[in-house]
Order: sequence, then C-alpha cells, then structure tokens
Amino acid sequence: MTKGLFITGTDTDVGKTVVTAGLAGAIKARGFNVGVMKPAASGAARHAGRLISNDVAFLLKSINIQYDHNIAAPLTIEPPLAPLAASMLENIPVEPEKIFKAFDIMRQKHDFLLVEGIGGILVPLTEVYSIADLIKDMGLPLIIVARPGIGTINHTLLTINEAEKRGIEVKGFIINGMDFNQAGDAEKANPEIIKKISGKTLLGILPFDPKVNMEKLVMGDIVELTEKHLDLEQILR
Ligand SMILES: Nc1ncnc2c1ncn2[C@@H]1O[C@H](COP(=O)(O)OP(=O)(O)O)[C@@H](O)[C@H]1O
Ligand SMILES: [Mg+2]
Repeated sequence: MTKGLFITGTDTDVGKTVVTAGLAGAIKARGFNVGVMKPAASGAARHAGRLISNDVAFLLKSINIQYDHNIAAPLTIEPPLAPLAASMLENIPVEPEKIFKAFDIMRQKHDFLLVEGIGGILVPLTEVYSIADLIKDMGLPLIIVARPGIGTINHTLLTINEAEKRGIEVKGFIINGMDFNQAGDAEKANPEIIKKISGKTLLGILPFDPKVNMEKLVMGDIVELTEKHLDLEQILR
C-alpha cells in the first residue's frame, strides 16, 4: 500500500496548503516519488475554459509536476463554498467515487501521497459522507494543522477525539503561523497543553513568515521552513 499522509486542519485557512506543499517538497528532496492531491477544491477560477484551483496549482508546483488537475483535484468547484453547500445551492455534483478513482491513479503513480483535506474533518462531502469518512476509507494516517492562538486547544482536541473515535491514526499535530516575536501567553502555552492532554506528538511549529506568500509561490522558502521547523523523521516514521 502506498505510504502517505492526510493533512487536515482544525478549520479552513489554518495553513493546510502551505504545510502540505512544504512537506511534499521536503519529502521529495529526500528521494521519494511524491504525489499530491486535494480531493475537493472549491473557489477555483476559470483559465482558458478550465477550472483551476490555486491550492492545487500550489501543491503541484511544490513537487514540480504538471499532471492533470482532474487527477490531483477530481472535484474542482467554482463557487467558494463547502462541497455540500455547492452541491445544494448550485447543483454541483459531489461524488466520492470520483475521488477514489483519482486516488487509485495517484497510488499507482507515486510511492508517497500527500492528501490535503477540505476545511476540518467533519466537513460533509455529501449528507452521509464526511472528510472523516474519506480519511478512514483512504487508510492514511492523519496530521492536524492548527492555529497557534486562543481557541486552538478546543479545536485541536475536538479534531483528535473525532478522528480517534473513528479509528483514524493520528500521527500528530503541527502549529502553523506562530509569530514568535509577538507570541502571548496563549500561544506560548497551547502547544504543550494540547500535547499533554491528547498524548499526541507535536510535529513542529511553523513560524509566521511573510515570505510564505502564495501569490508569489516562493516554494524554496516554504521547503526550507519545513526542513527547519518540522520533525520530518517523525512525520515519515
Ligand atoms: N506560516 C505562515 N506564514 C505566513 N503566512 C502563512 C503561513 N501559513 C499560511 N499562511 C498564509 O495564510 C493563508 C492560508 O493558508 P493556507 O495554507 O491556504 O490554508 P488552508 O489550506 O488551511 O486553507 C495563505 O494566504 C497563506 O499564504
Ligand atoms: Mg488549502
């Protein structure tokens, strides 16, 4: 079975894409044949008649591969909506089978697969099928990307509990966007508190860095930050 990881967030906008791209670049640099995918990507824009997700373009850039967006992002959705909202409001079909067809192709192409989630783990793809179901069915261990500040203890523990309740292997969590110069008491205490209460591994703290600018696609910088701040040994174990 292909080795891989599923990267979820405690929420949207926490840095899943940045972490996934950084990990993909860093793992590729260690000689792995790495693939990336985003099972459902919304808020995509039309370029020359094709729907392209910025997230997916960024992920593909991290491993310098230009395969078909239909495989890397089997459900690319134009409105910036959660998948089920897009299917209910705009009649856009969301079929998990399409995701698994692409997943199978990716597993054949690569030895190591990084899958970026959508929002948090209870985001529904359909009324009866959530991201948590998807993670379980893909059989990949989970990494949770969390915010540094107030609120993150609750969100991270909820995510860990839900995943474990479903028998998903939680590899650990990553705090992203820590501003070490401005960190208050919450930011300083939170990583250890989450670690202590959950018993899960803190896989690293990525600093807030203005160089991490998705518009300018500074991939080398993200990979360098990943190498420096995340525990790749532990992540690949
Ligand atoms: N460590 C960081 N330092 C600075 N900006 C960051 C960092 N991580 C993420 N960002 C920025 O925050 C935004 C959200 O990150 P993204 O990876 O797209 O989140 P998600 O995939 O969880 O929605 C992006 O604009 C990204 O450039
Ligand atoms: Mg993203």
